[in-house]
Amino acid sequence: MENMFRLADHDDFSSRRSIWVNGPVIVGAGPSGLATAACLRDQGVPFAVLEKEDCIASLWQKRTYDRLKLHLPKQFCQLPKLPFPEDFPEYPTKKQFVEYLESYAKHFEINPKFNEYVQSARYDETSGLWRVKTASTGGSNRTEVEYICRWLVVATGENAEGVMPEIEGLSEFGGEVMHACSYKSGQKFSGKKVLVVGCGNSGMEVSLDLCNHNAFPSMVVRSSVHVLPREIMGKSTFELAVLLRKWLPLWLVDKLMLILAWLVLGNTEKYGLKRPSTGPLTLKNTMGKTPVLDIGALEKIRSGDINVVPGIKRFSRGQVELVNGEILDIDAVVLATGYRSNVPYWLQEGEFFSKNGFPKAPFPHGWKGNAGLYAVGFTRRGLSGASSDATRIAQDIGKVWKEETKQTKRTTACHRRCISQF
Ligand SMILES: Cc1cc2nc3c(=O)[nH]c(=O)nc-3n(C[C@H](O)[C@H](O)[C@H](O)COP(=O)(O)OP(=O)(O)OC[C@H]3O[C@@H](n4cnc5c(N)ncnc54)[C@H](O)[C@@H]3O)c2cc1C
Ligand SMILES: NC(=O)c1ccc[n+]([C@@H]2O[C@H](COP(=O)([O-])OP(=O)(O)OC[C@H]3O[C@@H](n4cnc5c(N)ncnc54)[C@H](OP(=O)(O)O)[C@@H]3O)[C@@H](O)[C@H]2O)c1
Repeated sequence: MENMFRLADHDDFSSRRSIWVNGPVIVGAGPSGLATAACLRDQGVPFAVLEKEDCIASLWQKRTYDRLKLHLPKQFCQLPKLPFPEDFPEYPTKKQFVEYLESYAKHFEINPKFNEYVQSARYDETSGLWRVKTASTGGSNRTEVEYICRWLVVATGENAEGVMPEIEGLSEFGGEVMHACSYKSGQKFSGKKVLVVGCGNSGMEVSLDLCNHNAFPSMVVRSSVHVLPREIMGKSTFELAVLLRKWLPLWLVDKLMLILAWLVLGNTEKYGLKRPSTGPLTLKNTMGKTPVLDIGALEKIRSGDINVVPGIKRFSRGQVELVNGEILDIDAVVLATGYRSNVPYWLQEGEFFSKNGFPKAPFPHGWKGNAGLYAVGFTRRGLSGASSDATRIAQDIGKVWKEETKQTKRTTACHRRCISQF
């Protein structure tokens, strides 16, 4: 159903100060925002998607390295209502995933409003509506618009911005320093000594990529990490864990995973990769810390091509001093130090979201707040978690929408200037 309430002509809407949106405003056109929009479309609910960048899935298109592939099998990464094409490999490449998302948006006629940076959103108790203020980041003129809506869906992602830790002396280092979100390939580091800070999936894969481009990476492991094989006897480790969880308690699945990891990978501790005392799935569920799924870095660690080093004490010009007193000469630093949510910077709300920008209620309860507020993609369960949130949100809003549109036959909204589905 194309939006039956659409009244505004789109060409001149940016010159307006306030715009009424029928249905929800979705902030973010990543996989979570797209999945929610598709499910709303399916329910016949109009919507508007606001995206700060000039494309969908900006994380995937602009802030990930070239060699990236999905690290979970494709059936766990497809969005609701449209599976991946059959000829996609088990682990689609970044390019294939972006192609899929583009065709997904096209299929469900999702046309986000690009270059719309949401600066603030607050619930107006008096009117019972959300007021979402954006600054237009495209073109030469900065335009500010206020969108007014009844429902607000936060889809800005768990990985909205890179964490840049403050480390003593880093500003005096002198060489190139970048976050993993700006790293594309190891090509330009050929022959260089690169310190990779962090040993999550990003740190491991960036280190592997650097090796493959004849650079010399040292990877900082300041605490501990669970490394699991991506597959065990040809079966995805993740899939195996999901299967076992149907019958067994979490602690037992954790134990089995660690035994299997030991059988396949051996003792990783002897290479400086100390395991946390909590099991990998429990750690993921309680702390959100993702285990590393090994796709070749461990082999390079074993061979010494990736040098594992302990935490950093301080940087100085062209050098880093480690906590064990060792000093390394280095040419560049890649901070694979993780990401954070940006929700606290723009959402003026303190009940549903906590200070770290994640919903306070744990999965599966963190998708719905009060007063028409929703969150999609904050489950720490990757794309499958986002799909589950999106389905719930659309059903919830769809139910109210259908009841109300049946009753009122659209009288009130027709008196307002409105948009939905740009
Ligand atoms: C390197 C890397 C690899 C990953 N690989 C996998 C994987 O294989 N499988 C998996 O399940 N998960 C993976 N993830 C997790 C990943 O976060 C999710 O797959 C997915 O991108 C989450 O989608 P999202 O829409 O919630 O967030 P995002 O993809 O981050 O999308 C959020 C969107 O919101 C926009 N936005 C943010 N703030 C604003 C604002 N204020 N105003 C307007 N727009 C805004 C952003 O520009 C962005 O387009 C990976 C993450 C990283 C960093
Ligand atoms: N192929 C894929 O699918 C793929 C690839 C990359 C990333 N991802 C996903 O993207 C998300 C983010 O992963 P990520 O690896 O970027 O981040 P991450 O999992 O949060 O890991 C961050 C790493 O940086 C370390 N760190 C942080 N600050 C540090 C400091 N000051 N000094 C030394 N070390 C420091 C952390 O150590 P501590 O543990 O000690 O804090 C940790 O090892 C995850 O969900 C991941 O699964 C997926």
